[in-house]
Amino acid sequence: MGEMEDLCVTDCTRCPALVDSRSRIVNGTGPEDADLLFVGEGPGAKEDEQGEPFVGRSGTVLDDGLRDVGLARGDVRISNCVRCRPPENRDPKKDELANCRGYLEREIDRLDPDVIVTLGKVPSEHLLERSVAVTKEAGTLEDVRIGGTPRRLLICVHPAATLYDRSQEETFENALQRAAELAGVDDSEGGQSRLDGF
Ligand code: URA
Repeated sequence: MGEMEDLCVTDCTRCPALVDSRSRIVNGTGPEDADLLFVGEGPGAKEDEQGEPFVGRSGTVLDDGLRDVGLARGDVRISNCVRCRPPENRDPKKDELANCRGYLEREIDRLDPDVIVTLGKVPSEHLLERSVAVTKEAGTLEDVRIGGTPRRLLICVHPAATLYDRSQEETFENALQRAAELAGVDDSEGGQSRLDGF
């Protein structure tokens, strides 16, 4: 079995409600040696349909934001707190987050990213294990132990928040800029992927 396959959950029935609502398990995508790991909440309708995280409207916002700071989707790893679509897009429940936590921790351990970027309240609170006022705290870098290992986590607003509230756009962009800087991305080429030209 290849290394990538190890990170793919192909069969899980721990959450009965999610087994009923999903059409497939949506695993993380992106290189296993990515410096940045983005963590969202859980798959929505489009992600459930296509089997890839952040491919709906939020994904377009994320892709655009990454490009603006000199990154491409293929430069980063993107995953979620839960891998199965919750019914009617409700937030994942505590037990569902707990059931899926091991898969995310395994992904974090394998990647050993420079920074974990949490997209929105659910992943921020899940990984920091405290309440988070995301809009206020976006752009904040915090040390946290995940699965016993010290990690650096950057809080970011969820891309969808910028669709409902334009004032969140700048907060989102600033947090992505900080993430790119922490990952050592040089944006002096003006918004090109740092892998362009190789
Ligand atoms: N929102 C999320 O939190 N994750 C996705 O994969 C898509 C939308």
